[in-house]
Amino acid sequence: MNFEITPLSLAGACQDKSDALIVLVSEGFKPGKDALSQLIGHALQAKDLEFKAGKVLPGYLAPGIHAARIWLVGCGQGSAASVKTAISAVMPAVKSAQIVNLTVVMVSSLDAVALQAAVQGVADGSYVYTTTLSKPIARKLKKVRFGVPVLNAVAQTAFDTAVATVSGVELAKEWANRPANHATPTLLAQAAQQLAKSAKLTCQVMGPKEVAKLGMGSFMSVAQGSREPLRFIVLQYQGASKQQSPVVLVGKGITFDTGGISMKPAAEMDEMKFDMSGAASVLGVFKALGQLKPSINVVGLIPACENMPDGLAVKPGDVVTSMSGQTIEILNTDAEGRLILCDALTYAERFKPAAVIDIATLTGACMVALGAVRSGLFASNDALAAALLQAGEQALDLCWRLPLDDDYAEGLKSNFADVANVGGRAGGAITAAKFLQRFAASYPWAHLDIAGTAWKNGAAKGATGRPVGLLLQYLLAHSGSQASVKPRKAKTGVSSRA
Ligand code: BES
Ligand code: MN
Ligand code: ZN
Repeated sequence: MNFEITPLSLAGACQDKSDALIVLVSEGFKPGKDALSQLIGHALQAKDLEFKAGKVLPGYLAPGIHAARIWLVGCGQGSAASVKTAISAVMPAVKSAQIVNLTVVMVSSLDAVALQAAVQGVADGSYVYTTTLSKPIARKLKKVRFGVPVLNAVAQTAFDTAVATVSGVELAKEWANRPANHATPTLLAQAAQQLAKSAKLTCQVMGPKEVAKLGMGSFMSVAQGSREPLRFIVLQYQGASKQQSPVVLVGKGITFDTGGISMKPAAEMDEMKFDMSGAASVLGVFKALGQLKPSINVVGLIPACENMPDGLAVKPGDVVTSMSGQTIEILNTDAEGRLILCDALTYAERFKPAAVIDIATLTGACMVALGAVRSGLFASNDALAAALLQAGEQALDLCWRLPLDDDYAEGLKSNFADVANVGGRAGGAITAAKFLQRFAASYPWAHLDIAGTAWKNGAAKGATGRPVGLLLQYLLAHSGSQASVKPRKAKTGVSSRA
């Protein structure tokens, strides 16, 4: 998709040559003399249009307006949340009308965060997955013009950030949506190598031999039941001097999770193709970094493999030795995410990271706790937690902090190894995080459990691309290179090095 930003008045929008106009109408609107203003004025007066966010009034062939279709949409006071509501209310109509060229115009200037919400909302609402369909979609949205009352540097920077975020989100959606036979560990690694063609990006891919040499016995135990060879992907973005310690992102890359010998029930098992959404979000972040080129250093680590049952698969009760040297009793082979992540967390130590954030569709329990609205956030460091919470609020990609009291780790005790890979059923998202924490003791660490937020089920089944928005927002704030998008609230200590 092609996005463009341009200064555009309502009078100018009347002459706009697009197929359709979306007009975001916020409170305080004062009609001018042009046809569009008049139309909005009348509609408001007749109460056919309201300022309330998400109220939509469609129009067709209005006199004095060039675009055949018009959607007037209320967007409250123009806050980011209202803009998001407004855009998601109107996009289904835009999609079903098969609009190819769209212009989004606003009656008054939006702040940077709201403008980003508008761009992201249009991209989200028009996204279609096509990779494994035999027929291409006939008419897709191709070009979107955002007309703003004034185009200043703040708006331009916000827009550029939003466009890069969109391309990252769409890459994450693409890989997460692909069926497991079209998104094997090998193919994921190739996608990462593709990204590394961009300047400042490098990629190293390791296979079973190298991973064995590193001593990643925990990761290898998950992969051993599959015919697909594992991959360990190391992406590096260097935008700052080598002396600057990087942020390391670790993405769970289980390309399919059957549960292994502790097999999952058949119903909805297909959704376990999304079990590499954490990995996909890391790819998405690197895609956006390649476009934005901020002055930071970021490392992406992706342990990727399938979790399959097999004659050679790891069995409940087996004890394996992780790269850290800690032995693990695998009581449930379906708790495999933590088994591949723990070795990646140990590997992360070599980068002397400023912070390590792992992203994983880790537990059904997190989905039960927080639903599809907020991702679960765990952190060993308060400043890092605050920075991630704030980034989530700003990017409208929310998370919520859950506790890490040591008492939650009681259930992980084992008579046969240093630690077991599962505790009891209670507090399952937290015990999973407690397991990971044992491997992340030597740097500020956070864990995002995206089991509830990475994809939607039902009619809208598909990947969301979360938490690419949150992560990018955090990284750009960390780099200080996004001066134009200031947090709305007072800073709560965004340095993860505190
Ligand atoms: N990939 C799943 C987590 C998951 C389940 C995400 C459902 C989204 C929807 C993970 O590997 C898993 O199976 N976790 C188990 C852990 C349990 C065995 C302690 C779970 O949540 O049931
Ligand atoms: Mn599992
Ligand atoms: Zn899993």
